[in-house]
Amino acid sequence: MITIHFFDAHGLKTSIQAKTGISLMKAAQAENIEGIAADCGGVLTCATCHVFIRPAFEHKVGPAHDEESSMLEFAVISPRPNSRLSCQVMLTDALDGLELDLPERQY
Ligand code: FES
Repeated sequence: MITIHFFDAHGLKTSIQAKTGISLMKAAQAENIEGIAADCGGVLTCATCHVFIRPAFEHKVGPAHDEESSMLEFAVISPRPNSRLSCQVMLTDALDGLELDLPERQY
């Protein structure tokens, strides 16, 4: 299990424990994190699972892949260099303590 810290658009922090080997989106949904809609269920067709990875973890999480970057262009809040679609981020032990910000909305 690893710990993940979510910060909402107002800076309110929610921390969860998550299994590795699943996506960040699935981990968030399992703990009822608000702010990640994930309408497509993780098949990369909705961009409603948008998150911003905080700087300390950007190099561990890595950048969005090409197909993901294309879908990020449809995110309602403009993507930034640290944007990822959480369904495409697989949790590993290296991401223990991951901090990320949620966009103010997904629609
Ligand atoms: S859940 Fe739809 S793109 Fe991530």
